[in-house]
Amino acid sequence: MRSAKVRLDRDFTLGETNPRLFGAFVEHLGRCIYGGLYEPGHPTADAHGFRQDVMALVRELAPTIIRYPGGNFVSGYDWEDGIGPVENRPRRLDYAWRSTEPNLFGTDEFILWCRQVGLEPMLAVNLGTRGPAEAGRLLEYCNHPGGTALSDLRRANGAEHPHGVRFWCLGNEMDGPWQTCARTAEEYGRVAAEAAKIMRWIDPDIELAACGSSGRNMPSFGAWETTVLEHTFDHVEWISLHTYLNDYAGDPAAFLASPDLMDSFIEEVVAIADSVAARRRSSKRIMLSFDEWNVWYRTRRPLENRIVPGWPVAPPILEERYTMLDALAFGGAAISLLNHADRVRCACLAQLINAIAPIMTATGGGAWRQTIFWPFAHMSNYGRGEVLRTRVESDTYAATYHDPRGASNPPIPLPEVTFLKLAAVHTGGGALSLFVLNRDLEQPMRLEVECRGFPSLRLVNAQTLHDADLFAINTQEAPNRVSPAPLLGVSVRDQRVAATVPPASWTLLQFAPANDTAGQ
Ligand code: AHR
Repeated sequence: MRSAKVRLDRDFTLGETNPRLFGAFVEHLGRCIYGGLYEPGHPTADAHGFRQDVMALVRELAPTIIRYPGGNFVSGYDWEDGIGPVENRPRRLDYAWRSTEPNLFGTDEFILWCRQVGLEPMLAVNLGTRGPAEAGRLLEYCNHPGGTALSDLRRANGAEHPHGVRFWCLGNEMDGPWQTCARTAEEYGRVAAEAAKIMRWIDPDIELAACGSSGRNMPSFGAWETTVLEHTFDHVEWISLHTYLNDYAGDPAAFLASPDLMDSFIEEVVAIADSVAARRRSSKRIMLSFDEWNVWYRTRRPLENRIVPGWPVAPPILEERYTMLDALAFGGAAISLLNHADRVRCACLAQLINAIAPIMTATGGGAWRQTIFWPFAHMSNYGRGEVLRTRVESDTYAATYHDPRGASNPPIPLPEVTFLKLAAVHTGGGALSLFVLNRDLEQPMRLEVECRGFPSLRLVNAQTLHDADLFAINTQEAPNRVSPAPLLGVSVRDQRVAATVPPASWTLLQFAPANDTAGQ
């Protein structure tokens, strides 16, 4: 059995979680929208065509902010196609996913869906085939109260009150050669700054995110952020980061080590943003929007192989089936985000339904939770509060991570990976949540956590996600094969928590102050 020790102190906080840290993403991609959240005629669909079974699972998952409409899709999207009477909307080719976009669902439907579920909308503007003028017009349509052609058009389309969208992404992955009308850092920096000026003139209350590199493995990573922020520093509040973890190499230990690369990525982008600030003698701090993160590899092939020929509507593409192992790597990524809550103040699980998603649906049939549903639901439901600094003493292992997406990139050595990866959140009033990843594939782990400043903890919830088969998945027929089970034997005495977690497991431990009987 492995052992690991953790020390934490209620006074040693790292930062408060912003609700936006628990966001997600829906794109016009495969069956995410059509056959996912929107399916008129489905037995559970309401008058708007919104599937209520999907909505119930989204509420259970508990995301906060939702990014829309892309993703790669946005870089060829004309937002005007998706508003007004549905029967007048055009069908268009979607270059990003080689699909036909029927435009039955657009901005107004998205806002309505968000309002019904109780989510904050986040919109991305097209800075690929279009530019600052169209970005401004979309914002005017959404947020201007009335008395102009565009704002009155929104009212005529049924939304009397402004949508009041606060968070806007200035394009998507504009450095990626796969992006419709990709740009150089200079080109993008200039166009993003000009779009930002117009947009803030229209609505000074918005927050704007510039595109960072589409991954740490991009050859231009670092230089891209520097150039883009030199152009946009005075105009934006956020810079975006994207990461998809993978096990292309078939090396589970290295895969579980890979979330540590997200820690490096975050710290590097913080350093770059703050260096741009330093050159300006500015105290402004650009915050990080990790607005695409997940595990994704089995369905990630060159676009030519990934697509279904014939420009179909909503083809079942990118329908990754997540394993137990994937859920563990995903949980590690969630811990990385929590442990940088001071600067990562927004993050979006990419994506929400069917396409690389925690929620799956059968068209005309049921909906179920994939394995990755669980770490996200735990983090979002029980991880809000002050993230605590932790001192982790754990054995380590060495791993080498292969990421063929950057085919020319050499393998990345990860020399000192702790078997234990953990985040601790003071959720208020002396309550504490611990999120525990045991990366040892063979051995259980005896965990001891010294919780200074928490004199009277009482265990209220202990759940562990573990399956003897690392490649077990949830399916429509067996939707609960991989789901959390109670963890027995957790003890709390004299501010010390002790527990034994299974090998290759994700565990949630939730404590309340002993004198707090709420929820008993
Ligand atoms: O989330 C799937 C795709 O991954 C997004 O459209 C794009 O931004 C990224 O490359």
